[in-house]
Amino acid sequence: MKTEKYHIINFPKITEPRGNLSFIEQNKHIPFSIKRVYYLYDVPSGATRGGHAHRTLQEMVIALSGSFDIVLDDGKEKKTFFLNRPHYGLLIPPCVWRELENFSSNSVALALASDIYIEEDYIRDYEVFKKMVASGELKKFHKK
Ligand code: TYD
Repeated sequence: MKTEKYHIINFPKITEPRGNLSFIEQNKHIPFSIKRVYYLYDVPSGATRGGHAHRTLQEMVIALSGSFDIVLDDGKEKKTFFLNRPHYGLLIPPCVWRELENFSSNSVALALASDIYIEEDYIRDYEVFKKMVASGELKKFHKK
């Protein structure tokens, strides 16, 4: 699998005796303008979030607290990323199916998204997603 298609970004971290501070600037530490922020919290043990792909949306997911796995699936292969530090983020490109699972207690998943919430951008049926990948239909949404 071409792992280069997925990127873990290490954000700046200012370490002081008073505690750590990280920061993220749009179009600098992440390759898009942030139009929306959302976060998952109070996720019960054993629950899975995500379960969809986007036609055009990109997002950066960060484990602000605790830990969880993100399984990325391009319709051909799956790759699992473990996030457990708030200065790392996983960049999820468009047209990738994602599942977030194995949430630790008190974990918080922060998502920085390249667009507002548009339900039409979602592909929520895995079989439809697989068919769109197989037919090449999703390629038209790739910019590069
Ligand atoms: P959903 O996409 O199913 O969440 P997840 O990706 O974690 O499985 O979203 C859950 C509900 O929240 C669904 O009714 C859509 C709504 N929602 C918004 O209204 N705005 C948002 O920005 C997001 C992410 C979800």
